[in-house]
Amino acid sequence: MSEKLWGGRFSKTTDEMINEFQASIDFDKRMYYEDIAGSIAHATMLQKCGIISSEDKEAIVAGLKKILKDIEEGNFEFSVDLEDIHMNIEKRLTDAIGEAGGRLHTARSRNDQVALDTHLYVRREVAEIEALIIDMQEALLETADKYKDVIMPGYTHLQRAQPILFAHHMLAYFAMLVRDFARFQGVYERADIMPLGAGALAGTTFPIDREFVAKELNFGSIYHNSLDAVSDRDYIMEFLSAASILMAHLSRLSEETILWCSREFSFIELDDAHCTGSSMMPQKKNPDVSELVRGKAGRVIGHLTAMLTTVKGLPLAYNKDLQEDKEGLFDAIDTVKFSLLVYARIIRGMKVKEDMMRRAVEEDFSNATDLADYLVKKGMPFRGAHEVAGKAVHYAIEKGVYLKDLSIEEFKSLSPLFDDDIKDAIRPETCVAGRNSLGGTGYEQVKLQRELSQKIIEAEKQYAKEAADRQILI
Ligand code: ARG
Repeated sequence: MSEKLWGGRFSKTTDEMINEFQASIDFDKRMYYEDIAGSIAHATMLQKCGIISSEDKEAIVAGLKKILKDIEEGNFEFSVDLEDIHMNIEKRLTDAIGEAGGRLHTARSRNDQVALDTHLYVRREVAEIEALIIDMQEALLETADKYKDVIMPGYTHLQRAQPILFAHHMLAYFAMLVRDFARFQGVYERADIMPLGAGALAGTTFPIDREFVAKELNFGSIYHNSLDAVSDRDYIMEFLSAASILMAHLSRLSEETILWCSREFSFIELDDAHCTGSSMMPQKKNPDVSELVRGKAGRVIGHLTAMLTTVKGLPLAYNKDLQEDKEGLFDAIDTVKFSLLVYARIIRGMKVKEDMMRRAVEEDFSNATDLADYLVKKGMPFRGAHEVAGKAVHYAIEKGVYLKDLSIEEFKSLSPLFDDDIKDAIRPETCVAGRNSLGGTGYEQVKLQRELSQKIIEAEKQYAKEAADRQILI
């Protein structure tokens, strides 16, 4: 009675609402390329192993290529009745080429098929995300280069702490993205394992060649346990976890962007083309993009939580719950890609207000550590020096001035170790230049960091290009 590809055992057609509830075509149709590439590799293997004839294989491959063209040209109507991308394509193939189409699913289940498609899909998207991470890193590095000598206050507890180079601050985000890139390399590796041939769960009675399929599809390795092959969603959880961490980084950067472009900070000016206004308050220029990226971080973290929760209670092997892996994954992919794209623009369009940063350094006490360090270099133990510097700050606050405004006599009355050179020792440039310890904010160190960052980008580009090349399968 049923038109389903699995309809033989049924005496009734599926309830319409149930049909719609359990179908995944609305979202898994985006894996059409992977589904077709996987089927071509499978059919080629079946023929090579003597399981189907050459004529059938030729008909299948030609039919699938035609379907790929049809989908890309918008000449394919996806049907909810056919549940998912796998059966939509298989049905269309069989309608077009007849019996040969019915042989394609030999030695295969949708359980290993969907696993294959999703592995291929994640692999391809990871390669694209890697390219976008590199672009974002380049935007940060360009900005660091452009403002390489600009000094700003560094913060702890959101209180001005010590003068730092703005470039150093940008490169801290660069460093986070280096780890994000490495995490996505790890995701790639775990997505790069070939599951096809696991069948529904236990393997197959046909003499298949899984290594051949893996090679056809540029996989690095294959699953060695069929139950694991159809149940594993680690690579999706890892993707969502890497995506969540990346979004957490972009969200921190967003928070700083929002603070910095506030009137209170006035450290940066965002490009007019990257901001929005208010329908009521004519003066407003809002950093919506940064706010949205900060907000979307929560959404991606939500997808990670959902996936972990879905998987944690599942018995082996395939359960339909696993179909829930896709919508969150796809949304996280879109969100991460879009966020990286827009944020690179925000960074490139941002103007740094050097004078405002300078003022925030000068009209404050973030050089107090340097005052203490000065005394230590003249022989005073650090604890004592800290006490004297604290007293100097207290004295200046009482007087309504900053450390730089105190006279030599005033300094000398706090400690006889002070000399004329104290004035230079507490200039912002001196404070910055002096922090020349490895990884510090000193000009020399930040220059080294910028050079190292450039080298890292070159290596990442090489990796990402090779990864992208491996995704061309048809
Ligand atoms: N649409 C399904 C999914 O995404 C494909 C696998 C279905 N397998 C099954 N035995 N019903 O998980």
